[in-house]
Amino acid sequence: MMYHRYKEDFKLEIKEYPFLCKLCKKEKALIEIPSQKIKVCKNCYNNFFENRIKKTIEKYKMILPQDRIGIFLSGGKDSSTLLFVLKKLYPDINLQAIFLNLGIKYYSEKVEILVKTFCENLKVPLFIYNLPEREGYRIDDFIFTYFKNKVCSACGAIKRYLFSKIAKELGLTVIATGHHLDDIVSTMLSLFFQGDFLGIAKLKPVLLPLSPNQVKKSKPLYTTPEKEIFYYAVLNEIPIENFICPHADKSPPKTIKKFLTELEEKNRQIKYQLLSVFTKKLIPLIKSNYKEETFNLCIKCGEITTAGDKICSRCKRIELLKKVDNKILELTKEEFENYIQNLNSDWVLIDLKGKENLLNESTKKLKKFFNPYKTRHIFLTSSQPEIGYLLALKLRKKGFKAYNVKEI
Ligand code: FES
Ligand code: ZN
Repeated sequence: MMYHRYKEDFKLEIKEYPFLCKLCKKEKALIEIPSQKIKVCKNCYNNFFENRIKKTIEKYKMILPQDRIGIFLSGGKDSSTLLFVLKKLYPDINLQAIFLNLGIKYYSEKVEILVKTFCENLKVPLFIYNLPEREGYRIDDFIFTYFKNKVCSACGAIKRYLFSKIAKELGLTVIATGHHLDDIVSTMLSLFFQGDFLGIAKLKPVLLPLSPNQVKKSKPLYTTPEKEIFYYAVLNEIPIENFICPHADKSPPKTIKKFLTELEEKNRQIKYQLLSVFTKKLIPLIKSNYKEETFNLCIKCGEITTAGDKICSRCKRIELLKKVDNKILELTKEEFENYIQNLNSDWVLIDLKGKENLLNESTKKLKKFFNPYKTRHIFLTSSQPEIGYLLALKLRKKGFKAYNVKEI
């Protein structure tokens, strides 16, 4: 028996059942297909899972034989599983894996190692784009702007720009993304609650380019439930990360996802029903009522920007970073010593030894501990530099002037 867990969201116990697979009736059953409520063997699970993806790809003509397909790997289960399945279903297609090292310290490096090994084993070429090296800034730098509590949203705009830039650089004709059924339905619902109907219309399985500047985007996992991806990844030993981006927040879709999961307990088909109502009824209705969206090209980078805007959201965010003159968040011991020499305000150095738990404390407790130092520069140090860094990030989000000092 093997027990697996993925973040807070999924658990899976793999065990041999004392009966045969419901589909082939030859092998012992090992795992349940959640959406079908039947227990099957590994082979039948894989066939079921892969065939549904194949059908989706064919139905929406997501991939053509002459395509050069790019997959941006995040280290998470969705994009990795997508790459694995595409390679298995179409061993001869032109696949290119891409990893964006966004300069999120102690996170990007770990994911990069994982993704490298994964692609080597799969024998898929990997292109690594190192944002700090190529463009001179890190996603972490947004902690110094008013995006400090929504770094993810700043990051989203940067990533969209990079998708398009790298697609051109590598001559891709399609970008395949790991969006799955749960992503699509929960985003549709949350956009619906916000009244963003144009946003809903964009959640189609295939997005054709708006300008020659862009490439087609396909979502081969459009009809695949998230839980089944997790099961597949475990069954096939696809390495999936357990590290969480330090800027990840509990976004509303997550709450909606939970709500959908509850509904699903009463009605197993609810996600498919919603998907079908949205795609067959609502999206055509929206399209017939709205004119095609117009767009401009950004005067700075040449990428698409929504009507009326001369500068795209990525370039606006970069402008913001340029205005920050001190982006120091981490120092070596030597740098720290020089730094405090030139500091004309009070500071404190806190050794986190025995206080590592602070990292997981509630905002209230954190504030209680650090409020006495509110007006000072707070230097943190720990035998595990990652802890000092993550805590400094957390404190910056709450308005403290915190730094991490390594190697003390
Ligand atoms: Fe972009 Fe976490 S990956 S903020
Ligand atoms: Zn079977």
